[in-house]
Amino acid sequence: MRLFPQHIFASLALLILQTGSASAAQDAMLVQQGKLLAQSMCAECHTFGGTIRSDRPSPDFAAIGAMPSTTALSLRVFLQSSHANMPNLILEGPQIEALSAFILDLGGK
Ligand code: HEC
Repeated sequence: MRLFPQHIFASLALLILQTGSASAAQDAMLVQQGKLLAQSMCAECHTFGGTIRSDRPSPDFAAIGAMPSTTALSLRVFLQSSHANMPNLILEGPQIEALSAFILDLGGK
């Protein structure tokens, strides 16, 4: 005896696949936005993985993202507070979210 007709299973599976890829697409968009923001606001000091440049002494974003202590929350706290060695950039919530997504993505998270 079947609990559900086969076509209901099929449409459920399709729905799960669609939501899965829709949220992955959203994540990818956020990372892309973060990259653009980082290129315009942070590239003066930070590198984004790849070649480490001696004229950019600030920590590399891929290295920051890969640190076990780096999470969306720790980045939010850092980017909302003031720092001794980094300028206090005024960032809006969505910008922080996008920049964090980019840094975490670079770090493989
Ligand atoms: C004028 C140079 C400069 C700019 C521009 C700058 N940073 Fe930084 N940033 C630094 C320096 C220097 C440090 C190291 C600070 C320290 O260790 O005290 C740092 C540290 C950080 C850290 C923390 C790393 C850790 O150890 O947890 C993060 C995250 C970060 N920056 C993100 C950003 C983002 C995002 C932007 C752009 C929106 C940005 N920074 C723009 C100079 C800069």
